Amino acid sequence: MTTIKSNYTHVFERREEFPSMKRRFNDFSLAYFDGPGGSQVPMQVLESMNNYYMNSNANSHGLFVTSMETDRLIADARDTMAAFLGAGSSRSISFGANMTTLNFSLSRALGRYLEPGDEIVITQLDHEANRQPWLSLREAGIVVREVKITSDFTLDYGDLEEKINEDTRLVAVGYSSNAFGTVNNIARIRELTYQVGAWLLVDAVHYAPHFPLDVKASGIDFLLCSAYKFYGPHVGILYAKEGLLDRLPTDRLRTQAQTAPYCIETGTLNHAALAGVKGAVDFISTFGKSDDFRSAIVEGMTEIAAHEEEMASALYQGLSAIPGLSLKGPSFDVSHRAPTVSFVIDGLDPATVSRKLGEKGICSWDGHFYAIRPMEVLGLLDRGGVIRLGLSLYNTPEEVDRVIGDVRKIARETGN
Ligand SMILES: Cc1ncc(COP(=O)(O)O)c(C=O)c1O
Repeated sequence: MTTIKSNYTHVFERREEFPSMKRRFNDFSLAYFDGPGGSQVPMQVLESMNNYYMNSNANSHGLFVTSMETDRLIADARDTMAAFLGAGSSRSISFGANMTTLNFSLSRALGRYLEPGDEIVITQLDHEANRQPWLSLREAGIVVREVKITSDFTLDYGDLEEKINEDTRLVAVGYSSNAFGTVNNIARIRELTYQVGAWLLVDAVHYAPHFPLDVKASGIDFLLCSAYKFYGPHVGILYAKEGLLDRLPTDRLRTQAQTAPYCIETGTLNHAALAGVKGAVDFISTFGKSDDFRSAIVEGMTEIAAHEEEMASALYQGLSAIPGLSLKGPSFDVSHRAPTVSFVIDGLDPATVSRKLGEKGICSWDGHFYAIRPMEVLGLLDRGGVIRLGLSLYNTPEEVDRVIGDVRKIARETGN
């Protein structure tokens, strides 16, 4: 029996709909705390993908039934993602292999559009997928400035203000850190970019699985996320404010559509996976109550967020009492934070801890998770990064208790 209380049992009870929750290893039920690396997939998503291959498998733009169904499916997936992001129009939604690939495509296009001497601002807190595509534009004479982070795992907003100037054309920031759970103040950053007329690009890969998004209300110009982090398959999604993508010289074939949202989508899309993207957002909407689809999504995400926050703060508190363990990330006293808890244990390499947890059926991640820059700056890289436990809608109070107990034992075995 756990002492951790939950007001959201109705959220995690939906774990029954995830076939992988039944998996066992070494006589333990698998406990999935690896969500930030990729979440588990419910039956509704699996059925949508299966149904595509069973009934409608064809390439697009043909004059026969399965091809027309494929066209319909792609359009539906765009509408669904527009509703998920609060985009207003499906003309703002492009699909790609993953976030990294889409961001590189976008950076190549911007590299051709911008002039030498134009400036781009990136941050030390970001995942490499939102740094390297912009750093590579230095070759084209673009000036790339890097905003510092502070020792409390947040952006240095004073430094950000200094780095943005009249020559800034783009500010590329993460919404939430996949390493520490920090949530950036996008409203404040938007205000700064607005003052100099720069575009704001947001990497929402770690934010989208945990909180409702409203790209229009937030004034975001470009936003990227990945469906495999929010209960879907491996597909990257780009939101570009209407009119923006049309102005950019993206890589494309002369045989393909030359306008947004298609002009950044090269080759055949992964149709079955798009069926899964739609399935994932439909699934999230079932956590809401409204008849209106967008409202149901926002309500659903709000319920999921409340459950995850409750579990993550209990986890944070439980781990904080373990001798020799240091938490790496903002505390849960801050107003807004993702349910991702990272830590290190004195005298133990993170990989050793993760391996030991893995033997007990607990899926955790160790290392830098491609957020290599903040690990470098904060001196964590040389010691193997951190151990990361991410909360998802299916994690239970019992699992949180179990992982705290297992981490405590591992720490004690090393003499902590
Ligand atoms: C914050 C963040 N940005 C970008 C990415 C890259 O996403 P993708 O795997 O879709 O390229 C990840 C993946 O873990 C991430 O966590």
